[in-house]
Amino acid sequence: MAAYLICLIVGYFCGCISTGYFVGKFYHMDIRTKGSGNAGTTNVLRNLGKLPALITFVGDLAKAIVPILVIRLAFAPEQWYLWCLYCGLGVVLGHNYPFYLGFKGGKGIAVTAAVVMSACHPLMIPIGLAIFIIMVALTRYVSVGSLFVAWYIPANTLVLYRDNPYFVHMMVVSLIFTALAYFQHRNNIVRLIHGNENPLWGKKKNEQ
Ligand code: G3P
Repeated sequence: MAAYLICLIVGYFCGCISTGYFVGKFYHMDIRTKGSGNAGTTNVLRNLGKLPALITFVGDLAKAIVPILVIRLAFAPEQWYLWCLYCGLGVVLGHNYPFYLGFKGGKGIAVTAAVVMSACHPLMIPIGLAIFIIMVALTRYVSVGSLFVAWYIPANTLVLYRDNPYFVHMMVVSLIFTALAYFQHRNNIVRLIHGNENPLWGKKKNEQ
């Protein structure tokens, strides 16, 4: 139990490195006061452009991939998947709720994708990326793609670990990623229902 808690805490402090916030500060902007208020890649892209968005995305991926790979490769515990899930969950919590920014950060999708890249089956990367791109291309809403990404970790757990003695434990932790993503996207979901979500390109549905 102590190991899981340590993974969660280490992950939290890595997740607290709010790349989007610091990239915004570099451009003299608090990204959390612009656009959707999200300190993540989509909102940085919207307000600052492609290069700052790319830096945000890479930074957010790295802060999850590095600690998870260290756990997976350096410690290689028997229950490495559970350790990585706890660490990844910590990263999402730190990213979404950084203590030094008044607990107002991002929505956790890039870091969830990083957990998929570093702790899930390698096939999840091309399949997951393809689903995300198709959903965004069809709808123009990153949030729709993100709400699909939210299910990748439970899907991986279900397919690969259903015969594992720790399956229920793994599934509960996996579903917390999904629940957090949906909670962070609650305003996006309301906007999607009312047809006034911010598209990645073009005008809103109800705009002329
Ligand atoms: O990953 C964040 C994305 O799903 C939505 O971002 O800024 O449109 O709320 P945003």
